[in-house]
Amino acid sequence: MAISDPQFFKGWKQVLQMCNLKPGEQVTVLTSDDSNRQIANIAKLAASDLGATVTELNLAPMNGEKAISRDKSGYIGKTPLEGNAAALACLKASDMVIDTIQLLFSKEQEEVLKAGTRMLLAVEPPEVMMRLLPRPEDKRRVLVAGQRIGAAKTMRVTSAAGTDFTCAFGQYPVLTQYGLADEPGRWDHWPSCFSARWPNEGSAEGTIVIDEGDILLPFKKYARAPITVTIEKGFIRDIKGGYDAEFMRKFMESFNDPRAYAMAHVGWGMETRAHWTVLGLYNPEAQLGMDARSFAGNFLWSSGPNTEAGGDRDVPCHLDIPLRNCSVALDGVFMTRDGEIVQDDQK
Ligand SMILES: [Fe+2]
Repeated sequence: MAISDPQFFKGWKQVLQMCNLKPGEQVTVLTSDDSNRQIANIAKLAASDLGATVTELNLAPMNGEKAISRDKSGYIGKTPLEGNAAALACLKASDMVIDTIQLLFSKEQEEVLKAGTRMLLAVEPPEVMMRLLPRPEDKRRVLVAGQRIGAAKTMRVTSAAGTDFTCAFGQYPVLTQYGLADEPGRWDHWPSCFSARWPNEGSAEGTIVIDEGDILLPFKKYARAPITVTIEKGFIRDIKGGYDAEFMRKFMESFNDPRAYAMAHVGWGMETRAHWTVLGLYNPEAQLGMDARSFAGNFLWSSGPNTEAGGDRDVPCHLDIPLRNCSVALDGVFMTRDGEIVQDDQK
């Protein structure tokens, strides 16, 4: 069901207040021709109502001819900010940017964040945003998990389906997503609720079995049969299985870039209001799949870029793959067991 403007306005005000938006701050709502107008319009109203000075910056869409779909997560990293010094200056001069076009993984986003601007991505359907409205307890749980990942030297993930994967940490910072851009230079995505980290280069090793019913993003598909992924020295070396494995292989091959096979962030979801089933209820192009990325107890792993963590691997192919029924351990201490969160302070 749709969300009414007054209801969404209340939600936006609440989220912007939790993002510490203060009267007199400069807020830029970044839009393109395919932005959700309800998100852009209500965000502008809510920011204005809180006393911010609001600008809408509209940039032409791009990548249409390169991406093989209209999905914003299907081709990432190259944005209309490339070569647009005026637009970049506008974002860097803002206290807060509300991004409805998805700058994630671009070097321009890193530049804006380094200027101290906080950025909130808002591209999911309004009803998903409202159902998963960020709460203080979500932030607390995500930060607790983030501290544990930050202190860990190793992660091991196992499952009855056959996953046995290990990696080492220390090279890259921790990624925490709780849906609020509440500090200078912080990026987040409303809605989100997970913690993750990029493995040290070359350290990811083992087998990940994507089981029937696990989710393949950005394809927005549930796997229909197991896919066995072999990882050696930080790179995916083999993808075996039936139709789904072939689809995954062919999608990755279409980028013609060996960097697409690098392991990227690994972590787990903590959102009890997010559901594994939601993806099956939507048209694939209607949402990004944040329920899939956030549902409590998933093991979310990914491939491709590391620019978000400060690396220079800016490959436009990025898969996010949330698995069910996995056990995730940090330095031998279980965070999840068979897809359930076991640490009380993360529940
Ligand atoms: Fe990702």
